[in-house]
Amino acid sequence: MAYEDAMREAVERHGGRIDADEYLVAVQTILQEQGGSPALESLKTNAFSHRRMVEAGIARVQIGRRKMVWLEEFAESVMNGEAIETGTTAGVSPNVAAPSGGAFNGVERMDAEHYPEHIRQFIPNNTTNFVESDQNEMLNLCLAYEMGWHVMYEGPTGCGKTRLVADFCHATNKPMIRLNCSEGLNEDNFIGYKTLVDGQVVFVEGPALLAMQYGCVLVLDELNAALPEILIKLHSIMDSGTYTLAEDGNRMIHAQPGFMVAACINPPNDYAGVRPLNRATKDRFDLQMNIKYLPEAEEMKLIQRLSGNRNRDLARSLVRMANDLRELKVQRKMSSDTSTRNLITVMQATTKMSVTDAINYTMVNRYDDTERKDVQMAARTRIGDY
Ligand SMILES: Nc1ncnc2c1ncn2[C@@H]1O[C@H](COP(=O)(O)OP(=O)(O)OP(=O)(O)O)[C@@H](O)[C@H]1O
Ligand SMILES: [Mg+2]
Repeated sequence: MAYEDAMREAVERHGGRIDADEYLVAVQTILQEQGGSPALESLKTNAFSHRRMVEAGIARVQIGRRKMVWLEEFAESVMNGEAIETGTTAGVSPNVAAPSGGAFNGVERMDAEHYPEHIRQFIPNNTTNFVESDQNEMLNLCLAYEMGWHVMYEGPTGCGKTRLVADFCHATNKPMIRLNCSEGLNEDNFIGYKTLVDGQVVFVEGPALLAMQYGCVLVLDELNAALPEILIKLHSIMDSGTYTLAEDGNRMIHAQPGFMVAACINPPNDYAGVRPLNRATKDRFDLQMNIKYLPEAEEMKLIQRLSGNRNRDLARSLVRMANDLRELKVQRKMSSDTSTRNLITVMQATTKMSVTDAINYTMVNRYDDTERKDVQMAARTRIGDY
């Protein structure tokens, strides 16, 4: 076990928060269990080395006179004004509502009770504590929300686009209504449709109208696959914040404060069959960001945290392998993406099966036939046990 693993484990064994003195003893105990004999004096330097703490994903926290060491994700939760989830080492908080009241990056946190039951259910009930790059994705999303803007995220598959918006909605208690534009989205299941109830014709409001009226975040995945009829409706909603329901006696629907459209798209040049988004649609999104996979050190930490598997050497090898494959894509020698989502699955799988099986069954077979040799080659190069 590497030194940093012992440091992390010392904090995890104490529920994610430990007093600084106890921390040193706990690290010493774990290293002794591994057959080492570290002196407390040398531990004071090594176990508090900033570089090692960053590697281990832990942080020094001082409250009043009390000096402690916390898991980094706990410290982040507190900075975000969220409740700390103890008793879990996996990174996704299990079905916990964010507290009501207060603010998140300057965005007022809603009270879930503000929404009727059928809308409240759309508030995401877990978070991954989204990890920002130096583009400050979360902070900028919060700024955009405050400005009343619509936002668009472009990036390869599994790089965190949808999760960014979901984590924002979780942190602020906002309902997020999510639609995939490529999966048969039409006027009926976007705007709504007429039906007969007890012999009366009634109009059933679709997700777009619900999102407008209850001030929800409307996530449109794969917007570039949307039918022209959907885009026309969307334009008129985004332009005026209103929608005239011709099907229902020209009833006017008004967007309420908090209504925001968040579109997520894959870069059209890189994906066969994906159309570029037309300029008129693109122009209606005020904030546009390109999302990338995280840098090596951050992605390593993320996949360990979200998989609950703390094998740092494996995480490092997997991320390097992924970056080799992503480079092949840049060079147009491969067309598939290697997503962070996939790396998390491999990390989880290795707790139940051999590294070779995990890579073959949860990774290699996802690639096109012609690409699998390259994936196996990358695995052999980067992963000792493969
Ligand atoms: N920066 C990040 N912070 C937190 N989680 C991330 C980050 N990047 C990737 N992930 C994780 O990767 C996984 C995939 O993320 P997500 O579903 O948001 O991808 P996406 O970009 O929307 O992909 P797609 O284009 O396929 O819809 C999730 O488990 C998410 O938590
Ligand atoms: Mg997505």
